[in-house]
Amino acid sequence: MELIIGCDHGGWEQAQHLTGWLRAAGHQVMTVGATGPESVDYPPISAAVGHAVAKGEPALGILVCGSGIGVSIAANKVPGIRAALCHDILTARLSRQHNDANVLCLGGRLIGPAAAEAIVATWLETAFEGGRHTRRVDQIREIEQPEGQPGDQIPAIEQPDSRLSC
Ligand code: RB5
Repeated sequence: MELIIGCDHGGWEQAQHLTGWLRAAGHQVMTVGATGPESVDYPPISAAVGHAVAKGEPALGILVCGSGIGVSIAANKVPGIRAALCHDILTARLSRQHNDANVLCLGGRLIGPAAAEAIVATWLETAFEGGRHTRRVDQIREIEQPEGQPGDQIPAIEQPDSRLSC
């Protein structure tokens, strides 16, 4: 399988580990971003992975920063990207089955190498389920369009729960 992995300094060690592990397993892995522990900003790295995956070159990507949060927020700004921040194998599996996630985001400072390997292995081997989830993924794509926002059809709540009004 072909993959692209991007990381900042917070994810560099984890990304380096995963790159070696994936290559040893026979995957072709392109890398972008930090080349060491020196501080580097994550948004342009997320954008580089996002644009590559949005073009399908390659179709799947992995992003690692300290928490996984920054890279996921940034990658999801790229049209066509469904970046999922996963902390365990269940979220990794669901992000593929239900959301057809095409970028996996990991927190390099939050999980160890064994957990990262298990998450990545699960993510790569799990297929999108389709069915009702196809409609929802299509609705996510609609949000990226200037017109036809699916949220326009959701009525506002006129009498919010009083427990929430404070
Ligand atoms: C870098 O210190 C850290 O902020 C970054 O790796 C990431 O966790 C941001 O969300």
